[in-house]
Amino acid sequence: MKKITKICCIGAGYVGGPTMSVIALKCPEIQVTVVDLNEKRIAQWNDEDLDKLPIYEPGLKEIVAQTRGKNLFFSSDVDKGIDEAEMIFISVNTPTKTYGKGKGQAADLKNIELCARNIARVAKEDKIVVEKSTLPVRTAEALKSILDNTGKGVKFEILSNPEFLAEGTAIEDLLNADRVLIGGDETAAGQAAKDALSWVYEHWIPKDRVLQTNVWSSELSKLVANAFLAQRVSSINSISALCEKTDANVAEVSRAIGFDSRIGSKFLNSSVGFGGSCFQKDILNLVYIAKSFGLTEVADYWEQVIIMNDYQKRRFADNIVSTLYNTVSGKKIAFYGWAFKKDTNDTRESAAIYIADALLDEMAQVVVYDPKVKEETIYNDLDYLGTRSPEENRRLLKVVSDPMEAAEQSHAIAILTEWDEFKTYDWQKIHEIMLKPAFVFDGRRILENEKMEKLGFKFYKIGQSH
Ligand code: NAD
Ligand code: UDX
Repeated sequence: MKKITKICCIGAGYVGGPTMSVIALKCPEIQVTVVDLNEKRIAQWNDEDLDKLPIYEPGLKEIVAQTRGKNLFFSSDVDKGIDEAEMIFISVNTPTKTYGKGKGQAADLKNIELCARNIARVAKEDKIVVEKSTLPVRTAEALKSILDNTGKGVKFEILSNPEFLAEGTAIEDLLNADRVLIGGDETAAGQAAKDALSWVYEHWIPKDRVLQTNVWSSELSKLVANAFLAQRVSSINSISALCEKTDANVAEVSRAIGFDSRIGSKFLNSSVGFGGSCFQKDILNLVYIAKSFGLTEVADYWEQVIIMNDYQKRRFADNIVSTLYNTVSGKKIAFYGWAFKKDTNDTRESAAIYIADALLDEMAQVVVYDPKVKEETIYNDLDYLGTRSPEENRRLLKVVSDPMEAAEQSHAIAILTEWDEFKTYDWQKIHEIMLKPAFVFDGRRILENEKMEKLGFKFYKIGQSH
């Protein structure tokens, strides 16, 4: 079996960076080079100051400190990286299309195609190309068609190896993956390529957790896994609305059903709505694929997961407005958290963005505090929506670096991310500096009703009647 000695990964993002760092850590005999067109990002990965890495993930900087410059390298010389490697991972972003056919649903495969053409142009020797990005089923076919037409007689094996890490726990997920999925052709060369990649992972993942399938099953499984996970969140969020009307408590319902081993207890936390770069994008992609095969009922079924998520975000914003006596115009509303979940600085599709947008429409004065998200990112997120001018966004929304400053003289606090530090705040002090009545809307269910009410707050928690 071929033992890989040189790996290149195209795309130094939330997946490429942590995944390659862990491969470098666990496979010291393999040289791993992560390349990206974005020179600023590469410079951040190479920064002496490990607190300046472009992404924040617990445990990541320690691994980079151990491996960088030894067998882990970050470079913007994409061609050199491709040329030298025997195995090339493609880990570029595949966002939802914002133009043309499939706009708003299909995956935009522009970056993937650019990578394929780059590999085809540069490669002089046979290579294994690994789809690490999440891709629509049958993308490998398109990749193959580009790569097989280089006219240079170079042979490529294409594998699908989707990534299942979740942000905030990426390192833990990579070190102790539930499974690694490797899809490839069912030919002798395809099998050899699958075995070569399995060997890399088997440096630290038990053999029985490295699953091999055909390439189409692997591509589709990634979309399906995310759809199932998101579906659980939407299911419990739909029940949270019912709980608020019936005096049932959504945490008690989650616990009660989660004890059933057939249901299981994970991913049943009711929230202000799921965010992140993956769930919505991948479900929309699944919906698009189902529609393109004429499977309308299948498409409608999965689209409902997104519809329910949008409803949950809207419901949370509407509740703030109606509770604050039907107007938030000119009222200061503090946001605790902007990231789409705790322990990440990623804000893509974060519920906070949409809730802020709804409240700004009502002319609220929103003041945001997030321990890891930069001011620039918050404004970019809002500007991207295009609801109002950048000047107007900056006039209505402020970003502060002190949670107390956010709370000072505010009418309400909305908790949008479940950062642990929010639980440890001196809530009595916060109550003192807020306007009265002091409202708290807990969209993450991290604070206790009894304690908050005792301190004098008007406390609203998602999934519980007030
Ligand atoms: P990202 O935006 O953080 O990183 C992608 C990087 O690819 C960027 O730095 C970009 O500059 C670079 N890039 C784009 N086109 C390029 C090209 N032609 N040549 C060189 N570099 C190029 O994206 P991400 O979050 O790492 O996601 C990557 C893929 O992994 C997506 O398909 C995503 O769906 C999937 N995925 C993401 C997660 C997650 O938690 N973020 C988890 C599992 C799977
Ligand atoms: C997800 C998948 O979990 C991961 O396997 C895949 O590789 C990428 O997409 P990620 O989006 O990083 O990972 O985080 P995840 O933990 O799945 O959370 C997604 C969103 O759902 C977050 O906004 C989170 O707050 C929300 N969520 C999750 C809930 O609201 N309730 C839950 O019970 C779980």
